[in-house]
Amino acid sequence: MALKITVIGTGYLGATHAAAMAELGFEVLALDVVREKIEMLERGETPMYEPGLEELLRRHVVGFEGSSGRLRFTQDWAEVGAFGDVHFVCVNTPQKHGEYACDMSYVESALASLAPHLARPALVVGKSTVPVGSADRLARMIAELAPAGEDAELAWNPEFLREGFAVQDTLHPDRIVVGVRSERAEALLRQVYETPVGEGTPFVVTDFPTAELVKTSANSFLATKISFINAMAEVCEAADGDVAKLAEAIGYDDRIGKKFLRAGIGFGGGCLPKDIRAFMARAGELGADQALTFLREIDSINMRQRGRMVELARQALGGGSFLGRRIAVLGATFKPDSDDVRDSPALNVAGQIHLQGGQVTVYDPKGMENARRLFPTLGYAPSALEAVRGADAVLHLTEWREFRELDPAALGEVATTRLILDGRNALDPELWRKAGWTYRGMGRPTA
Ligand code: UGA
Repeated sequence: MALKITVIGTGYLGATHAAAMAELGFEVLALDVVREKIEMLERGETPMYEPGLEELLRRHVVGFEGSSGRLRFTQDWAEVGAFGDVHFVCVNTPQKHGEYACDMSYVESALASLAPHLARPALVVGKSTVPVGSADRLARMIAELAPAGEDAELAWNPEFLREGFAVQDTLHPDRIVVGVRSERAEALLRQVYETPVGEGTPFVVTDFPTAELVKTSANSFLATKISFINAMAEVCEAADGDVAKLAEAIGYDDRIGKKFLRAGIGFGGGCLPKDIRAFMARAGELGADQALTFLREIDSINMRQRGRMVELARQALGGGSFLGRRIAVLGATFKPDSDDVRDSPALNVAGQIHLQGGQVTVYDPKGMENARRLFPTLGYAPSALEAVRGADAVLHLTEWREFRELDPAALGEVATTRLILDGRNALDPELWRKAGWTYRGMGRPTA
């Protein structure tokens, strides 16, 4: 008989995972404690902008014309417990307020609500990013609370999806990692992931701690690559070198690789910053804090880039104060193809300049609503052209394709001063310079 799957938590990860499981042919029941989220998903809408996700939902959510009807939603834990053979836990683990450690309360409360309804053999699969050691503790908690006892098992299956590519990354992952304690758990997960594994996706079987660590170490490595190249950008700036050329040149060495070597205002979002902090906190608890002290430096190099961008803007405007200066900011989200503004370097820079008296006008293709909610005192314009109108400087802070396709000549017509500062080193300097703009990148020569 085909496996029945439940997904608990329908945020970024859960909504995508639920739709993807239905796409793979499973009957899926998804639960969220927030009623509005469920109602939106039932209408085939997502609470966030993610390319392709609404289409995927509508192909499967029950009630849509032509849909498979394999995806349903509920708020009833008993129904979830009775329905599922495999339960995926996809709730978030944010940074604790005022601490580096991650907040496990959503994971704990999800399992406390689910376990008492596990009356027959079931596999609970954690996908949330958690501190190493959590799975061991949670497995005991489930076995204690579930009427099925030891037959209610836990596995850990970290998720590596990127925002903006969530659908693609979930349906065609570059690896599947499962931390398991029994052959049965492994066999069930092989059954769940039969399609991608059949297409060649590597399936890595580990113990609990390794599975948990794979996730945090992958994100730490990515953060390290970005901070490495940003440190090189600082040196390039001091030595009059060009970090974009440097990244290209070292990237040809396939041991280094080209990806994640774009210097700029650094990483943000809901994952990389909080994951490296939670990792440091956990290593401290385990007595291995020395091993991860370098992540403190990675974090501080990253945070420093935001300030460097502000100083680059100040210098380019002639030094002194931002008072009365008009600044156009292109981009508010932490990365393109997302409406996520959590810990966004772009908004951070916009906010700093605004708080120093600059008149900042922001435009972003998808992040306006979220940005306005987070930073209501910034100015917002309905288009890049309107944001740039009357500006003394234009800051390019999120590398949307729309910005690379802008016509520098047309923008030059409406700007007060043709000064563009590229915080993502993603625009073509020649194109802008030809149209009469002064172009400055980060870690790149001035002319
Ligand atoms: C990241 C990881 O890439 C995913 O593999 C992981 O599953 C996810 O976190 C998670 O833990 O859930 P994501 O947060 O979507 O995914 O963002 P990334 O694509 O990793 O970008 C992170 C930040 O780094 C962005 O602000 C981006 O602008 C910045 N970045 C990226 C650079 O500054 N330079 C680069 O070369 C690449």
